Amino acid sequence: MPPRRYHLTSYGCQMNKLDSELVESKLRQRGYEAAADEASASVVLLNTCSVRQHAEDRVWSKLGKLRQRKRSEPGLVVGVLGCMAQEHKRYLLSRMPHVDLVVGPSAFGDIDATVDEAVARNAQIAATRERARTKHEVAGAGVLAVGQGVSGDAIRRDVRVRPHRSQAYVSVMRGCNMPCSYCIVPTTRGDEVSRPIADLVDEAQRLCDDGVTEITLLGQTVNAYGRDLTGQNATLARLLRALHEIPALRRLAFITSHPNFLSPDLVDALAELPKVARYLHLPAQSGSNAVLKAMRRGYTVERYLARVEQLLARAPDFELHSDFIVGYPGESASDFEATAALLRRVGFAQSYVFKYSPRPGTLAAERDDDVPEAEKERRNQVLLQIQEELTLARHQALVGRTVEVLVEGPSKVAGRLSGRTVHHRLVHFASDDLDLVGTYVPVRIREALGHSVVGERLDATAAEASAHDPVEVQRA
Ligand code: SAH
Ligand code: SF4
Ligand code: F3S
Repeated sequence: MPPRRYHLTSYGCQMNKLDSELVESKLRQRGYEAAADEASASVVLLNTCSVRQHAEDRVWSKLGKLRQRKRSEPGLVVGVLGCMAQEHKRYLLSRMPHVDLVVGPSAFGDIDATVDEAVARNAQIAATRERARTKHEVAGAGVLAVGQGVSGDAIRRDVRVRPHRSQAYVSVMRGCNMPCSYCIVPTTRGDEVSRPIADLVDEAQRLCDDGVTEITLLGQTVNAYGRDLTGQNATLARLLRALHEIPALRRLAFITSHPNFLSPDLVDALAELPKVARYLHLPAQSGSNAVLKAMRRGYTVERYLARVEQLLARAPDFELHSDFIVGYPGESASDFEATAALLRRVGFAQSYVFKYSPRPGTLAAERDDDVPEAEKERRNQVLLQIQEELTLARHQALVGRTVEVLVEGPSKVAGRLSGRTVHHRLVHFASDDLDLVGTYVPVRIREALGHSVVGERLDATAAEASAHDPVEVQRA
């Protein structure tokens, strides 16, 4: 039998990308091979995202194209995995009858068997069609695996299946129990389920034994980790302390944090543990108390700022990253101004800005989506512009300083490599020595750009002194 080749594309967040790695490790164990490109794959899988309409539209249009291909290739297996599968379930099969698999995140644990089943069925359909010389599409035969089945957490991860030599993601919890009015994630990912500390230490140790030195822990509200593990006293602070003990581990990051769970315990851990990366992704979403209330975020701007102050008082070298939503239903011009003011006041090092997108079934979707698209776009641009100025100011403050860079790979510009600092800042430097990928090198910054900095590589000893220096930037 010829090798069965799959091609898997991720459309979502880091969690979605890590799920793709888990799915791949299952498929490879079952004898599937990664195809060089989608055209040469006999199993095409899309791991999807529902967080905004735009993310879904990309997948609907991709599925439209695959429908064409399937007309001439009836044995082709097309699978929709992830959050859209969970959200749309059977509707996906009725709108796209050429889809063979609809598999939600809670059923990734036996994805290999599900794919096998579809491959066998399609082979039979293709043979029958060949005999009958029919041109019909065979509809309605898709496998639906959503809401139950074997969870992805049951997969004992093959640590060799990962995109980077020295970096890896580890999922510490699935799902989300927060009531944010606009968000579909609790629907698509279900309730919070944390993994025990011992399992996570074991997985991290196996990754480090295989050459990983930087681990990023993933959870939708990663700092709420453990609250469902009653009686185990499992918290993110304790988890960080446990992982910190792994000698080969050099950097430990975690995303995404919710402002309500930034506990004193966690702040202590961040201040005390030198391997912890020096940035905190703490989405504010809005700077208006009225909007935060409508969003059901559970904090006020004052409380958010107090949390940030508490962190910076103990760990002044931390930088803050945020997400913002503009054009939430009822967001007035002055609500928006308050968001712009918060962005400046905290002086975030990085922000993702999203235009509000109504998600069916959420509380916010019952409200009139009343901020016109052009105004959403304007507000989006204003925030991006402010963020760019803030980022550039930080980058300029770095010129002449030396930072430690974990090299990730070749940069887009030929003759350069790129990597990240403990602040998750993107650094480029001249080199074509691919042996440096996965190592930590000192780089002296020469030039500040909007989204990155450019520098030159120094020899190792010169870096010692300043690798962990905080970047001082005036906050308004
Ligand atoms: N769990 C994380 C992130 C979840 S989704 C958190 O709570 O911070 C990533 C980001 O997408 C969110 O932070 C939010 O800014 C944005 N987002 C979520 N739902 C959205 C919607 N309906 N429209 C626009 N942006 C949305
Ligand atoms: Fe969505 Fe809120 Fe959960 Fe984040 S915390 S995933 S925004 S419901
Ligand atoms: Fe998208 Fe699902 Fe992640 S909706 S943001 S892929 S959890």
